[in-house]
Amino acid sequence: MSDATVLLLGSGGREHALAWKLSQSPSVDRIICIPGNPGMASLGELRSVNVEDINAVVALATEVRPDLVVVGPEAPIAAGVSDALCDAGFLVFGPSRAAGRLEWDKDFAKSFMVRHGVPTASSKTFSAEEVDAAREYVKGHSLPVVLKANGLAAGKGVVIAESIEEALTTLDAMLSGSAFGDAGRSVVIEEFMYGEEASVFAVVDRTHYMLFAPSQDHKRIGDGDTGPNTGGMGAYAPAPIVSDERLQFIRERIVEPTIRGMREEGNPFHGCLFCGLMIGGDKGVRVVEFNSRFGDPETQVILPIWRGDLYKLFHAAASGTLSTVDQGTSVGSAVCVVMASGGYPGSYEKGKVIEGLDDVSADTVVFHAGTKRVGDDMVTNGGRVLGVTSVSSETDMEQTILRAYEEVSKITFDGAVWRHDIGARINTDRDTD
Ligand code: AMP
Ligand code: GLY
Repeated sequence: MSDATVLLLGSGGREHALAWKLSQSPSVDRIICIPGNPGMASLGELRSVNVEDINAVVALATEVRPDLVVVGPEAPIAAGVSDALCDAGFLVFGPSRAAGRLEWDKDFAKSFMVRHGVPTASSKTFSAEEVDAAREYVKGHSLPVVLKANGLAAGKGVVIAESIEEALTTLDAMLSGSAFGDAGRSVVIEEFMYGEEASVFAVVDRTHYMLFAPSQDHKRIGDGDTGPNTGGMGAYAPAPIVSDERLQFIRERIVEPTIRGMREEGNPFHGCLFCGLMIGGDKGVRVVEFNSRFGDPETQVILPIWRGDLYKLFHAAASGTLSTVDQGTSVGSAVCVVMASGGYPGSYEKGKVIEGLDDVSADTVVFHAGTKRVGDDMVTNGGRVLGVTSVSSETDMEQTILRAYEEVSKITFDGAVWRHDIGARINTDRDTD
């Protein structure tokens, strides 16, 4: 398995981190990224193909004959791209559309969890035709109440309403299609869970699995978890809130029944099972959501501290032979601070020149997300622009946090915003229950 060619789908910080780690595998000779981003250009070839265009992706795969296709984001999974690639005879790391339903249909995920005894918040789903019943249900609900667009909404389809009025306005906006288009025409109304969030990623081969170090994302735009939700403003790993005892619970009560349940229901899952968890309170560990892919920015911290051969791991997961390969180990700590464009997650300007990228220290990796090369300049081209990740072989997270912020201060672009408290909850996390 040397001289392998990998075809990698996606263009965010997550995919840059995947390409970076895959490129370190002695087995990998060539990485072709579609469409990729400028940060990935030094690791592989960028080809401008729309990852949701089934015919275009299969045509490119037919041309470059990859030994493995790695699907980064959720959209191509929901669009059936992984199925089409499998049908065309390619080995794919990433679930079928049917197994990816755990992410693209929240109502399916909730009823699946109920069927298989996986702990989660209680909920009820309403479609646009049931708007009157949904309004009555909301009026009788405890506050805060959580409203979720049932379909994919780029991580932004969740509203936590603090009043019944806010909940009713949100409900109307979702069910009418004005808030999230068709994704919101069916709404999951859910009990609010108190506690600390953590992300646990399982690489699954339909039967067996391995876990990366638990991590914690920071979803809100503002320090102290204020302001609107974003795709994720920073992360750290390992997350001590996921104690060994809790990890055992997560294995036995969440990951294993889910893998088994998907197999029993005829939709065996392979790829990355992302368990978004709420930890603490009197309810223990519960699932906030499942995703059928790696998290972003969590991938930018879990991969740098993982010592192992990512190509061999993914190849084995795709082939159903995970139990026969070395599953690696996680050593040390990593902290990722996302630098975003001013205005994000609302509207923002693009095209700001980024300076200082060459000044970062060797223990830091800058993963690109929303960047573009214009002549000799690297300029901003998205909401989340860069993930500045400092890595240490020590588990002293406070030092790693300081290092990450030192590196952030070397990089500048007009209007740059970032959170100043990534990892700050590390010491309080353990006291959640
Ligand atoms: P999701 O897209 O389902 O991960 O939701 C986005 C974010 O909304 C989560 O990461 C949580 O911060 C929050 N959230 C979602 N559901 C709940 C819930 N039932 N209780 C509390 N917070 C929630
Ligand atoms: N970091 C959360 C996500 O990738 O959905």
